[in-house]
Amino acid sequence: MSAPSLEQIISQATADFASCADAPSLENAKAKYLGKTGAVTELLKGMAQLSPDEKKTRGADINRAKDAIEATLKARRESLANDALNAKLASESIDVTLPGRGRGVGGIHPVIQTWQRCEEIFGSIGFDVADGPEIEADWYNFTALNNPPNHPARSMQDTFYVDMNGTDGLPLLLRTHTSPMQVRYAKMHANELTTKGKAIKVIAPGRTYRVDSDATHSPMFHQIEGLWIDENISFADLKGVYTDFLRRFFETVALQVRFRPSYFPFTEPSAEIDMKFDSGPLKGKWLEISGSGQVHPTVVKNFGLDPERFIGFAFGSGLERLTMLKHGIGDLRLFFEGDLRFLKQFA
Ligand code: PHE
Repeated sequence: MSAPSLEQIISQATADFASCADAPSLENAKAKYLGKTGAVTELLKGMAQLSPDEKKTRGADINRAKDAIEATLKARRESLANDALNAKLASESIDVTLPGRGRGVGGIHPVIQTWQRCEEIFGSIGFDVADGPEIEADWYNFTALNNPPNHPARSMQDTFYVDMNGTDGLPLLLRTHTSPMQVRYAKMHANELTTKGKAIKVIAPGRTYRVDSDATHSPMFHQIEGLWIDENISFADLKGVYTDFLRRFFETVALQVRFRPSYFPFTEPSAEIDMKFDSGPLKGKWLEISGSGQVHPTVVKNFGLDPERFIGFAFGSGLERLTMLKHGIGDLRLFFEGDLRFLKQFA
């Protein structure tokens, strides 16, 4: 069989390239002509036995053929790329008249807004902010706070126990209030108070846990603890600080505050703080807002301080309760359902 002429090779290559429907098959076809064992390469190899003059003319012919093949290859490449682009443009057409999807904007949860507002108000009158563990040792949560061993709060019904033999054989539990932070913070700063006279003045907001669940109780809730210990802090300071806080938090001076005798093991005397709005939908009703009292001498001792010299007050308020009263929310469970229709009203 005689070798194909250069024209035959060119027209065959042109036909081959034209039949390639995509870039990969075109590159395969290219190898058949211009590759290491391709038709054109074979022709060049076949010139070995020609005379120098023949080589010149034959070589020039083959190179022309090679150029021609490369030109058709290039043209085919471009037209395939064009086709691909057009297909893409056609399939990806966008409808510019569609409404945009937008991106939802997040918001701060109403209870956390209360938390932040409390930090602002108490911060402005010199209170530090402290944070502490939610898994707490029995000693901080109960014993150091003067809770007798048989106090009902210790019972399995009220307290979530994590490990009955936690530290030194004493249980680890989910803190039932933020009051253990009184002990943690005061112990840490007792020395500064004794030696430098720097008052212990702190709030500790955070999560607390109790085995309790209905419209006004949630197994997880938030409290804010307040503690002020110095050489001559009295119950009058508690009244002043807390009343001022409530007026600023509820943004009205039209509210009354009363301290109703109560009992907590870690304060003596103890008081329940009630408030009453003079206007608005809750007008005229006494509402319980916080536990409070003068810190019990035994607890001051557990802070590492001399109760004959140092005295002070503490309070513990529910952040959900403050938020509910501020916004007139009737059911505490709304805070934890994650329903955007509710939450968006506070964003
Ligand atoms: N820890 C108490 C409670 O959770 C509140 C409280 C705090 C009372 C500080 C007095 C002083 O009910």
